[in-house]
Amino acid sequence: MKKATLQDRYYLEVGLCWEKAAFENYNELANIIKNKSAREALRGLAFSEKGHFLLLAEKYQEYFGIDPEFENVGRFTGPLSDGIWSFFRRDKKMASAKKFLKIFNHAIDEEKKAVDLYKKAENETDVFDLKELYSILQSVENNHYLVLREEFQKQFRKSPSSFTL
Ligand SMILES: [Fe+2]
Ligand SMILES: [Fe+2]
Repeated sequence: MKKATLQDRYYLEVGLCWEKAAFENYNELANIIKNKSAREALRGLAFSEKGHFLLLAEKYQEYFGIDPEFENVGRFTGPLSDGIWSFFRRDKKMASAKKFLKIFNHAIDEEKKAVDLYKKAENETDVFDLKELYSILQSVENNHYLVLREEFQKQFRKSPSSFTL
C-alpha cells in the first residue's frame, strides 16, 4: 500500500473544511427558505455533505491518526462560509427572491469548484483508496451541481449564471 503524503493530508483537510462549511450552510438555508421542495432539496444536500465529511474524516484518521475535527480543520476557510453567506445571515429580509437567486448561483459555483478540487486530489494522489474516494465525491458533487441547477430553474424560471462575489 502506498504511503499517504503531506499533500494527501492537505487535500483531506481542504475537503473536510469544504464539506463542513457546505453542510452548515445548506442546513441554515433549509431552515429559512419558505418553499417546501427547495427546503427538502437543501436538507438532502446538507445530509450528503455531512456524509462526505465523515468519509474524509475516516480516511484522515486511518492515515494520520489525528481527529481532524479538533486538530486541523479550523486552519482552512470553507468556500461557503464567508461572503454572501454571512451577509445573508445578517439580513432580516432573507426571503427576497433576488438574494436567493444570488445564493443559489453561488452554491452552484461552489459545487462546481468541489468537483474540480476532488478531480485534482484524485490525480495527485498515489493512494488507491483515496483515489477511489475522490472519484466518488466528484460524481456526487457533480450531481449536487445538477440538482441545484434544476432547483434554480424551478425557483426562478431561468438558467443560473455564473456569480462571483
Ligand atoms: Fe460534499
Ligand atoms: Fe456538494
